Amino acid sequence: MQLERLWLTDFRNYAAAELHPAPDGLTVVTGANGEGKTNLLEAVGYLATLRSFRGAPGEALVRAGAPVAVVRAEARRDGRGLLLEAELHPTGRDRVQVNRQPLKRTRDLLGALQVTVFAPDDLELVKGGPAARRRYLDDLLVALHPRHDATQTELDRVLRQRNTLLRQAGGRATPDVVATLEVWDAKLADAGEKLVTARRGLTAALEPLVSSAYAQVAEAARLRGSHVGVRLAYQASWEGGLAAALAAARGDDLRRGVTTVGPHRDELGCWIGDLPARTHASQGEQRSLALGLRLGGHRLVAERIGSAPVLLLDDVFSELDADRSAALLDALPAGQALLTTAGSPPPGAEARHVVRVEGGKLLP
Ligand SMILES: Nc1ncnc2c1ncn2[C@@H]1O[C@H](COP(=O)(O)OP(=O)(O)O)[C@@H](O)[C@H]1O
Ligand SMILES: [Mg+2]
Repeated sequence: MQLERLWLTDFRNYAAAELHPAPDGLTVVTGANGEGKTNLLEAVGYLATLRSFRGAPGEALVRAGAPVAVVRAEARRDGRGLLLEAELHPTGRDRVQVNRQPLKRTRDLLGALQVTVFAPDDLELVKGGPAARRRYLDDLLVALHPRHDATQTELDRVLRQRNTLLRQAGGRATPDVVATLEVWDAKLADAGEKLVTARRGLTAALEPLVSSAYAQVAEAARLRGSHVGVRLAYQASWEGGLAAALAAARGDDLRRGVTTVGPHRDELGCWIGDLPARTHASQGEQRSLALGLRLGGHRLVAERIGSAPVLLLDDVFSELDADRSAALLDALPAGQALLTTAGSPPPGAEARHVVRVEGGKLLP
């Protein structure tokens, strides 16, 4: 998978910009803080996932005062050229085209371009709450099978509506409330079971890849016990069938005004050796595991899709000590990568191409 050219119009702080990354290997994007380095990677990520990897809402991506942002790219995949274009409106109605053909549903763009993002926030993957780990699994599922995006969207919608109903019911299970709940529960159980089955399968496929990526990073970072292995386990917030669990939790849900069981309450448990990584691992181990999770996911997508995603490395080396930085560089799979840094590229990183960003302008 290759990104050949990128054009931005009114995206974040870019009025107009054009980037030609190196076709293979590392393109380094330098510039002081706040000049637009992350924005550039965010634009590439947007074309791949139709979301900001920093979790920013769509309207934040449109340049202040501009009516619309456009991100366009020429990409190459299995020898075939693709022209991708996304038009972002602050109101949220995006329009996308592939090879100048408008797509009926924006989500049909998913899968055309694949990226793997490494960002300083990735530590949260290991250290933070379960939401980040669910997001990690769900993003990988969409990368592997774009149709999962529809399941996830449906699930979010049903959950929102069910929760609104629970709040409005004020704890009273009137016949009307019960009848409507039955409808939402059936939909929630259906989409929920589908998603959880996929998340479980993914977890099993990831475990050996994450474990070996962790061993590689941890060993190079000279962490003790780098060989112990990583264990991943999907932990559902219920047992048995989801429909039955929702029925059993109904009284509780009505009292509390929220849905207390379902895929939105599940966890991806991570252990280094026998110890839970979130609470027991050292900062160094947690950082290495975060890298291991990203690298493992990257390898799985590359293996299954047959073509490596474009790597987006946002400011990751400034956070890493020399050993871990070297470990990451060593572990980086072959292929195209865009790396941002406020300083100089990490020692050992061989830049094929360097661009400077200043105030939303790309300088050669
Ligand atoms: N929608 C927007 N319109 C105009 N400027 C924006 C918008 N969103 C962010 N910016 C500007 O972009 C800059 C941040 O760019 P960023 O890529 O995060 O910097 P860095 O180079 O440190 O990674 C900030 O100065 C911010 O004001
Ligand atoms: Mg940045």
